[in-house]
Amino acid sequence: MPARPSILIARTVFPEVVDKLRQHFDVETTPAGTVWSAQQLVQRLQGKEGVLTTGSERIDAALLAACPQLKIAANLAVGFNNFDLDAMTAAGVLGTNAPDVLTETTADFGFALLMATARRITESEHYLRAGHWKEWSLDLFAGAEVHGSTLGILGMGRIGQAIARRGALGFGMKVIYHNRSRLPEDKEAAIGARYVDRDTLFAEADHVVLVLPYTPAVHHTVGAAEIARMKPTATLVNIARGGIVDEEALVAALRERRIAAAGLDVFEGEPRINPALLTVPNVVLTPHIASATLPTRMAMAMLAADNLIAYLTEGRALTPLNPEVVGRA
Ligand code: GLV
Repeated sequence: MPARPSILIARTVFPEVVDKLRQHFDVETTPAGTVWSAQQLVQRLQGKEGVLTTGSERIDAALLAACPQLKIAANLAVGFNNFDLDAMTAAGVLGTNAPDVLTETTADFGFALLMATARRITESEHYLRAGHWKEWSLDLFAGAEVHGSTLGILGMGRIGQAIARRGALGFGMKVIYHNRSRLPEDKEAAIGARYVDRDTLFAEADHVVLVLPYTPAVHHTVGAAEIARMKPTATLVNIARGGIVDEEALVAALRERRIAAAGLDVFEGEPRINPALLTVPNVVLTPHIASATLPTRMAMAMLAADNLIAYLTEGRALTPLNPEVVGRA
């Protein structure tokens, strides 16, 4: 019998996922709470043909050169900025991600974060817990209107569209968006969204939601200039990747109330948080949990596992990022 392929699960996943993978592979797991350094990851990957990564393990040219047996890295995330896809393609290593299964859950969370930010939910809860609430008053934690306001979406992929639907259909919002490519007109009409240029998006939106994929080209694409265009009553919500927003510029704007509030689920350099963010009250901070419901996280992990199984046992890729390597090995 040919030897079973060996794989590494680079972060703790649900036991059901490990059990499924063990039916096909020799599986090395990662102890709970462990995050491998780049060097440790290379050591663990010796002799492994596959790796199940989360969005944090970097698969780049240096790692690929040191792990010549590697054939596939299956990311348990829809974003894949931890992959150097060109280097992977050059090395003949397939990358896969976990799209679709998280779209609606992530859109739910984007909307929840928007509402928590606009309606000052965490800020007011902290006030209450600290025992500061002495009397009801008319303007206590008065926030911004959500229903009927203008929702600006930067990045109109699947998740952006799902957020747009919630805003337009559920909350009667006027939806404007900017994206690298414009949606077909019938799709815009079905979602109820209007394409605008970037400057108009920041200037007109009451709530700006960032849902674009992170690449070096969009590093700090939301900085002082974009924030300066926003209304003083506006909110900014980021559920994409931390590096998209210049956090220093955001903190300065929040401190000076040049915008009303921000909601951030992602951070540059996470899980480390820029300490300045912790000092401003008008920001809602959550630990990268936009897709975190148990059914969705299970579906994401199972999709990553299914990609490993399909590729290493049958040479098929389910959600390939660089399909040109399939069949090349
Ligand atoms: C989470 O951030 C993901 O990319 O799935």
